[in-house]
Amino acid sequence: MLSIEDYQAYFVLHLKNYEVTRHPKNLYEPAAYILNLGGKRLRPVLTLMTADIFGGHYKAALQAAMSVEVFHNFTLVHDDIMDAAPLRRGHETVHEKWDVNTGILSGDAMLIMAYQLFETYPPETFKPLISIFSKTALEVCEGQQYDVDFETRDDVTIEEYLKMIEYKTAVLVACAMKMGAIIAEAPEADQNRIYNFGKNLGIAFQLQDDYLDAFGDPKTFGKQVGGDIIENKKTYLYLKALEFSNDADMDNLKNLFASNPEDNTEKIITVKAIFKTSGAADETRKAITTYTNKAYAVLDDLAISDENKQLLKAFGNNLMNRTV
Ligand code: IPE
Ligand code: IPE
Ligand code: MG
Ligand code: MG
Ligand code: MG
Repeated sequence: MLSIEDYQAYFVLHLKNYEVTRHPKNLYEPAAYILNLGGKRLRPVLTLMTADIFGGHYKAALQAAMSVEVFHNFTLVHDDIMDAAPLRRGHETVHEKWDVNTGILSGDAMLIMAYQLFETYPPETFKPLISIFSKTALEVCEGQQYDVDFETRDDVTIEEYLKMIEYKTAVLVACAMKMGAIIAEAPEADQNRIYNFGKNLGIAFQLQDDYLDAFGDPKTFGKQVGGDIIENKKTYLYLKALEFSNDADMDNLKNLFASNPEDNTEKIITVKAIFKTSGAADETRKAITTYTNKAYAVLDDLAISDENKQLLKAFGNNLMNRTV
């Protein structure tokens, strides 16, 4: 086993050698740009780590880890177009630096590159890898569609929200881990347990992402703070604020989330204040802890060493306390 930092360093080193830039430059340069912009690399680290945890070797999981990161970066390029986001990892988004059409096609190419990366696996591993990967990729699309549909709906429920984030975010974290387990040839029951661990961790992760989108520090967050408020995203913060507010705040919030003002400064200030005073901000922190603990509970049924369980918990604790 390596430390989390060492898995990350190993991954980033190999990502640098992954030759993306070919011709035409306007197709491949945006892919190289986004892939080298940094990021936490949490999904590939989970793939490498899970392979080791189940007695495989992390080096055998490198191509799958690369694939999950290339796929993730593809979703970010398209997501930033859909969310009209100006900033990613502290830099201009692809569609801002180039244009929307470039972002669409580079993203498409990255999705294909993600599939190509599996070609090195022998058929008996290739098949289950592709199977979970394709299922997951389609679910991410479904989650993204719900996310966009919810922007213009005013009757979204917590249950619908949780399904949406499970699909757009959590299943990829789960898939990253399951792929590590597949490569290590772990028993199917364990593959499914680690998938569930990743899914619950992924739900906590997206709740935290929503929290940081409103309350993160613009100096360190790397994305536009308040972006979800500008886009009228029906986040946990928003849904809980509606549930907890008095009638006046509820009306105010609903009206603000039906508007798209030229200047969003006031909207963001008012909404954040209601998120805090209503108790929605605290409730979101609680939900992050709840889902992280649900992930930890899955570990009880796994026959892996205590040391490895601690490593997974350390990973979860890092995610809960992150500012980026
Ligand atoms: C951003 O993912 C998209 C979400 C699912 C919230 P990350 O927060 O993992 O982004 P990077 O890769 O670290 O930049
Ligand atoms: C992202 O959700 C989910 C995917 C990219 C599939 P967000 O829209 O919240 O992600 P960020 O905040 O832009 O990273
Ligand atoms: Mg976004
Ligand atoms: Mg989005
Ligand atoms: Mg977000």
